[in-house]
Amino acid sequence: MNTNAQSPIGLFDSGIGGLTVANAILQQLPNESLVYFGDTAHLPYGDKSADTIRYFTKTIGSFLLSKECKIIVIACNTASSVAFEMLQQLAGDKAHVFNVIDAVVDEVINRKYKNVGVIGTLGTVNSNAYKNKINAKNPNVNVHQLATPLLAPMIESGFVDGQISHLVIEEYLNAPSLQDIDTLVLACTHYPLIKKEIEDFYAAKNKKVDVLATNEIVAVHIKKFMIENGIVNYEKKGRNTFYVSDYTESFEKTTQLFYKESIDLIQMPLFK
Ligand code: DGL
Repeated sequence: MNTNAQSPIGLFDSGIGGLTVANAILQQLPNESLVYFGDTAHLPYGDKSADTIRYFTKTIGSFLLSKECKIIVIACNTASSVAFEMLQQLAGDKAHVFNVIDAVVDEVINRKYKNVGVIGTLGTVNSNAYKNKINAKNPNVNVHQLATPLLAPMIESGFVDGQISHLVIEEYLNAPSLQDIDTLVLACTHYPLIKKEIEDFYAAKNKKVDVLATNEIVAVHIKKFMIENGIVNYEKKGRNTFYVSDYTESFEKTTQLFYKESIDLIQMPLFK
């Protein structure tokens, strides 16, 4: 395994939504250098087949391995659902691979939730990854999944706190399958941006539903792993690099929704 604490952490997502995970990791581990890859040429992943997502993951994973990342985070629930084992095999003993699902499943089990709602892309929901992993640990937990395909494009278009997002969120969360839940997992790395709106929705109805955003849970989990394995970078901060497979100015502008600082995107035509 790469045990060099100075090596970067690699992350990727279908686009820029995974920057919510990048933010959360830097909050936990401020000295780390990140190499981020947003596959903007193939956005969204949510409606693609599992085989296609595995092909994208293989190509991007190889790129991140070429950057000598000590850790690779699949900062996308859709790719985490269908391509995690494949990427682990590809990385072998070169890098530790993390998905954004397992740490959240552990949290659900540890907190003893009994009726769990899961919202995410079509790909994530159709894979049943959350349901299977939760029920493998505790078959008595009821998992209610709902595909919410409008949310990621809505968030990427900047509709996060207004009439449009209120209506769309309300429509989805009023679905019969999501009534009587004690927690709601936001199973998409875009959704931390609407976490507050979702909490407000439940507060307005006087309903006690805990809302779990994957980015923070995953970042805490990775930090613990890195401390245990002695690969935290305690030296002076390195630089973060952000690659995209297709560059447009609008992508660059949109990054400000997801990432605290303004960033320059570098076009990396991996698929040409
Ligand atoms: N950020 C991706 C995820 O967590 C969803 C966006 C997409 O459909 O590409 O699943």
